[in-house]
Amino acid sequence: MQNELVLKLKEIVGEDWVLTDPAFMEGYLTDVTALPVRPKPASDIVVVKPANAEEISSVLRFANEHRIPVIARGGGTGCVGAAVPTVPGIVLSMERLDRIIEVDKDNMMVVAEAGATLEKMLKEVEAAGLLFPPHPGDEGAQLGGLVVCNAGGTRAVKYGVVRQYVKGLEVVLPTGEIVTMGGKLLKNNTGLDLMHLMIDSEGILGIVTKVIFRLYPQFAGSATLIVSFDDRHSAIKAVPKILQTGVIPLALEYVERDVIQISADHLGMRWPAKKGMAHLLVIITGSNEDDVYAQATDVIKVCEGLGAVDTLMAETREEQADILKIRSELYPALKPQVSDVLDMAVPPAEIANFLDILDEISEKYQTRIITYGHAGDGNIHPHLPLELYERGVLKEVKHDIYAAAVKMGGVITAEHGVGKIRRAELTLCLDKKSLELMAGIKKLFDPNGILNPETALP
Ligand code: LAC
Ligand code: ZN
Repeated sequence: MQNELVLKLKEIVGEDWVLTDPAFMEGYLTDVTALPVRPKPASDIVVVKPANAEEISSVLRFANEHRIPVIARGGGTGCVGAAVPTVPGIVLSMERLDRIIEVDKDNMMVVAEAGATLEKMLKEVEAAGLLFPPHPGDEGAQLGGLVVCNAGGTRAVKYGVVRQYVKGLEVVLPTGEIVTMGGKLLKNNTGLDLMHLMIDSEGILGIVTKVIFRLYPQFAGSATLIVSFDDRHSAIKAVPKILQTGVIPLALEYVERDVIQISADHLGMRWPAKKGMAHLLVIITGSNEDDVYAQATDVIKVCEGLGAVDTLMAETREEQADILKIRSELYPALKPQVSDVLDMAVPPAEIANFLDILDEISEKYQTRIITYGHAGDGNIHPHLPLELYERGVLKEVKHDIYAAAVKMGGVITAEHGVGKIRRAELTLCLDKKSLELMAGIKKLFDPNGILNPETALP
């Protein structure tokens, strides 16, 4: 990296907060994308760790003036390579902006710096007796990352994804200006909604430095059901029927017993359900125990009518946390055997048809496509095994799956985003004019294209 750049960065953030030695950089160059499809990082990178929005502004002004690419880095928990720097430039780590500024109990909002981890925020929010409902699996994710990838996760059926919680942002634009969007407000129709453009922008429009999230009261009671079926089709068929009962579960997940067992073994834990091969995980919350129990009874009744062979109900906090933990660790447990983890969304009532087509595709390629996901959201993660990559048919299989989802009115990513590895396929579900508008927005925010190149757009 040129000397002038390093000197300037040291002048802005201080000598100690600029890394130029590749030996110490490894942790800043990757994310959790499966290895066969993970982009290769560029070698000419300098890592900078600013302390605040003003320093970030100075870094961006300099970078913009000299047309130097800047890639913001959060917790590195993304699975589509968005945070991997594939061109020479600056990796701007958010790790020092890690303060939880305020848990505002009266307004039920939390204000925090964007580099704080989800884990840290959850602790403070819980200590204040409040709840941040979404639960993207990895609590090492940073808050800014949650916003710019609009994280989803298991607990989105009842309360929605991260977008529903973002009420205000502070953002540094690639041209250096620091702007605030939204505030501690539940309603706000003032002008075009730039804040919602930042959400899911995958680091290409601006760098989020501060967030305001809405919080909820903690739920008084909850239970986690594991409903077992003998086959995938019956289990998945039950999903829309559960949602039609009027019960809105916090989470409604689909997993297969032999697959979830891999995660349990990986963690040295025990998966409690022993019957059936296809499981629905239903988390129910309510205003008291009776309320939870009544909802659980409705769900169980519907499932039994559709062929459920067993239901297990976890009521203690520990048991429920263990089940969620085993579910959340599925991807890390499977990853060594996986060449890519897909992230389709289809209209919720199409989900059984979609999984049937996945079975046909598995048969066509003589393989097993391990599948689980957020069934209640119509969001499924087909895992393409490593051997498809080794056989050289990965692209073909992926294309078949994408085409099937799009044909049903689905999209190629529901929560992971486009990142660096799904750009080529965007044209499958976005028309030319929409892509042109997106490119125009990018140009308006970032006229010199310095922020996170090769990401999110074709
Ligand atoms: C999950 C990740 C892969 O749902 O999105 O576990
Ligand atoms: Zn997921």
